Amino acid sequence: MASLAFTSSQAVSSSFSSYEQPRASHFGLFKPLNRSHLPSMAANISRRKCAVKPLNAEPKRNDSIVENVKQRCLPNALNYPMLEEYDFRNDTVQNLEGCELTGSPLSCGEFTVVVEEKVKVEDYGKLAKELENGSPLEIIDKALEKFGNDIAIAFSGAEDVALIEYAQLTGRPFRVFSLDTGRLNPETYKFFDEVEKHYGIRIEYMFPDAVEVQALVRSKGLFSFYEDGHQECCRVRKVRPLRRALKGLRGWITGQRKDQSPGTRSEIPVVQVDPAFEGMDGGVGSLVKWNPLANVDGKDVWNFLRTMKVPMNSLHAQGYISIGCEPCTRPVLPGQHEREGRWWWEDAKAKECGLHKGNLKEEAQLNGNGNGDVHANGSATVADIFDTEKIVSLSRPGVENLLKLQNRREPWLVVLYAPWCQFCQAMEGSYVELAEKLAGTGMKVGKFRADGEQKAFAQKELQLGSFPTILFFPNHSSRPIKYPSEKRDVDSLMAFVNALR
Ligand code: ADX
Ligand code: SF4
Repeated sequence: MASLAFTSSQAVSSSFSSYEQPRASHFGLFKPLNRSHLPSMAANISRRKCAVKPLNAEPKRNDSIVENVKQRCLPNALNYPMLEEYDFRNDTVQNLEGCELTGSPLSCGEFTVVVEEKVKVEDYGKLAKELENGSPLEIIDKALEKFGNDIAIAFSGAEDVALIEYAQLTGRPFRVFSLDTGRLNPETYKFFDEVEKHYGIRIEYMFPDAVEVQALVRSKGLFSFYEDGHQECCRVRKVRPLRRALKGLRGWITGQRKDQSPGTRSEIPVVQVDPAFEGMDGGVGSLVKWNPLANVDGKDVWNFLRTMKVPMNSLHAQGYISIGCEPCTRPVLPGQHEREGRWWWEDAKAKECGLHKGNLKEEAQLNGNGNGDVHANGSATVADIFDTEKIVSLSRPGVENLLKLQNRREPWLVVLYAPWCQFCQAMEGSYVELAEKLAGTGMKVGKFRADGEQKAFAQKELQLGSFPTILFFPNHSSRPIKYPSEKRDVDSLMAFVNALR
């Protein structure tokens, strides 16, 4: 995988200098912000610079998105009557340097630290209501204030450059990433370069996995999306790199607007718990998605860009409005909706490439337990997953056969999945890698699509509770053993297999 640049100190200092000479004050387009955070920026920035990590960095598991895990510091001397409360995520944690916070009372020099289990979870529905009438500048400011270095702007290379301009205007440091699919227009690449220079930032590009692109293109050619639909190619070139990027974050900022797609985006809130992807802590609720332009009209975005003299993609001057990959984007005629220039050969309902799949109602129906619920409609037309020759695709008779064999020659590991389930998609990479590692070791790896008409059978015979369910079929007994954990990384799965075979 390509190495990634990360937000440079340039980004930090350029944001900082924009505060010293705020261009915002020359325009009446937005409300001035409370800038009480700014005097302490120098200190924050120096810490941030050390903490900066590439977007695909290993998740920092013990640093929770949940903001208010309070650390109480009790003076050890009993005659100190007062208790002080420290917020672990704010600066006062500096006073506790050297403590290892493991969850039980700890001695910390003069203080004893008691970790309270009281966790206050932010109510993003409520926050969305509070910010519903907020300006994009206020919303981005709030996002950057809350998430600091753990949030990044998703920049497509189109009019969502407005997000970068607003971020710059907050005076706070910010990060920007972009998914370079390898199929963007030359104009878009030039525009990225211009944006980097204009703002003094480095865009953190995410690239698709070379082996996956190679497999797709070698087997189906360069333009398979015109025949098969865009989902498969988008999944390889956009969605998986996005998933990787988001695993290094707690929040992301998108340029989605309600008016972009009446079919799929008319209800997006300005902030939401991401309905489809996970952040660095993993699981439902670990990622917050900010859509500061949700309520802004397209024409107001354009007015803003012109007024602020923001650089623009030269494709806009050629009739393009919404811009994606070159083969899948074309200019629109006057009066045509901008979305008509994207994947024009497909049904309008399908025009989400997977980056914002939570917008598609049928994909968002998940229960709250961290697993995908069994989907009501197994017939969703989503491209298949776990698609590699190392994984055997089992039919219903194939699985029934496995259930019958008491003395099968090889043990089997089988995932019961539904291709639309985000948690199945999330484990795709590790399951494929596992299959590759197990190839030739005498262990078979398979998959069984268990939604739709197979659901009842899988629930009754295969212990299916939620997707994905992973089963180990030992070679001495017919009864499969269910993988008990929600950790679906290669090492955890391998430990399970090794413990049983
Ligand atoms: S798409 O899902 O149809 O491709 P669209 O082009 O409308 O999305 O863009 C909506 C938002 O998704 C953008 O403002 C941006 O935040 C994010 N986005 C889209 N494409 C990319 C990309 N290539 N890299 C990063 N973010 C993107
Ligand atoms: Fe592939 Fe087109 Fe999707 Fe780009 S927009 S990833 S070229 S299908």
